[in-house]
Order: sequence, then C-alpha cells, then structure tokens
Amino acid sequence: MSIRTIPAAQWQAVLQMAPSLITEQRRITTNAILSAGEGGNGELGAADTAILSVLAYAAPSGDAFEFGTYLGRTTRLLALARPDSTVFTIDCHNAKELCVERGQPGDVPFCGIPRESIGRAFGGTSEATRIIQLWGDSLNYPLQDLYGAMGIVFVDGGHDYATVLSDLQRAYNMLADQEAGIVVAHDYGFVPDVTKAWNEVFAGMSTLSFEASRLVAYGAVAQELFG
Ligand SMILES: C[S@@+](CC[C@H](N)C(=O)[O-])C[C@H]1O[C@@H](n2cnc3c(N)ncnc32)[C@H](O)[C@@H]1O
Repeated sequence: MSIRTIPAAQWQAVLQMAPSLITEQRRITTNAILSAGEGGNGELGAADTAILSVLAYAAPSGDAFEFGTYLGRTTRLLALARPDSTVFTIDCHNAKELCVERGQPGDVPFCGIPRESIGRAFGGTSEATRIIQLWGDSLNYPLQDLYGAMGIVFVDGGHDYATVLSDLQRAYNMLADQEAGIVVAHDYGFVPDVTKAWNEVFAGMSTLSFEASRLVAYGAVAQELFG
C-alpha cells in the first residue's frame, strides 16, 4: 500500500480554493466546523469534520453509509453534504461490552451512551427523513444487500482489529464504483488496530492521510480532490 500524507496547508487550500466545489458546501462545512469539538471525546475534531464534509460532497453518486452513529453529528454532516443520498448508519446497544470483549477497553467512555442519545444530533431535523438507522453489531450485521450501492462509506464504529477489518472490507464492497468511490476512516495513525486493519485492506492501493487530522481516505475522487 502507498499512503501519501497531505500537508495541512495543502488540504486547507483545497477547502478554501475550490469555490465551484464548495460554494454550498462552504456553509455546511463552516457550520460543522463551528459546532465540532476538539476531538478525542468520541466525535470528530474540526479538521476531521472539514475534510469529511468535502469528501462527502465530492464523492461520486450513490448513497452513504456510516459505521458508528454515536450522537449522530457525522451522520447529519453526510446527509447535509449529499442532499440526493440516503444515509445509512449503524450502531448497537451493547458497544460498551463489545469494546471490553474485543480488547479495546479505552473506548468504553465513548461507547456507553444511552440508546436514546444515539443519533440525537439529527433527530427532528429535515435530514432525518433521509437517514436510516440500523441497530446491531456491525461485525455480524447482514449488509450484503447494500453492496455496490454507496458513493462514500465512513468507518468509525468499533475500533478493535476484527471489527475494523470487517467494517473496512465491507465498506469497500459497498462502493458502487470501487475505483472512484470513497472509503474514509477515523483514527488512522492514532488507534493501532485501525492503522493495521486499514494497511491490510488497502494493501497495494493508493490512499491518503491528512496532516493534523485522524482521517484516512481511499478512492480516485479523493486523490483528484487533494491533488
Ligand atoms: C467513535 S463513535 C462514532 C462517532 C461519530 N462518527 C461522530 O464523529 O460523531 C463509535 C460508535 O461506534 C459504536 N460501535 C462500537 N462498536 C460497534 C459495533 N461492533 N457495531 C456497531 N456499532 C459499534 C459505538 O456505540 C459508538 O457510538
């Protein structure tokens, strides 16, 4: 696998200097960045949010899929960035137990939120009509019906090796166009199991990481976007 790290100045320039791409997106991105936290609390930080937003906007046609709904901020971001897409998002009720069972006890604080809080950031919004919430352990959940249907898949669910490996493999299978479509994951270079699983699934392919961000991305459209 070859991974290219896009310097912060370069990806920031893409965000700022692509008005034809992000005229509408600028408003969405700005709002998302302003409402993003510092990261590290289970949600994406501002840099990650900005990059994900632009990737979602630029991704080829198709629906969007997210592993790891949590409060639902990134789910809503995907829906805002892709007004013609349905956004599928999966989370589970027993993530806390799964984190411990699968050797990621450090994730417990971000996995133990009550069921009613999962997805609350999009509840009652106009985007919610295009969001389909799935409930279950992504490692076992039947997703084959969604293979070949997505323009972008965002992977930020369970962070143990077995779960990330499976989520990434299925993410790739879910792309409608396996060259142009985008798979993006969070915590690359930060959670060793995520880094290991990504490097295995995308071995032999070109992927991008982003300086000062925990995101990593696959897909020709992502490569074109960031030069
Ligand atoms: C880091 S949070 C996602 C944060 C979200 N992407 C955001 O930035 O707002 C991870 C989520 O994945 C869920 N999760 C963990 N293991 C899972 C599994 N095996 N199947 C489905 N969801 C899982 C947790 O319950 C948690 O809500």
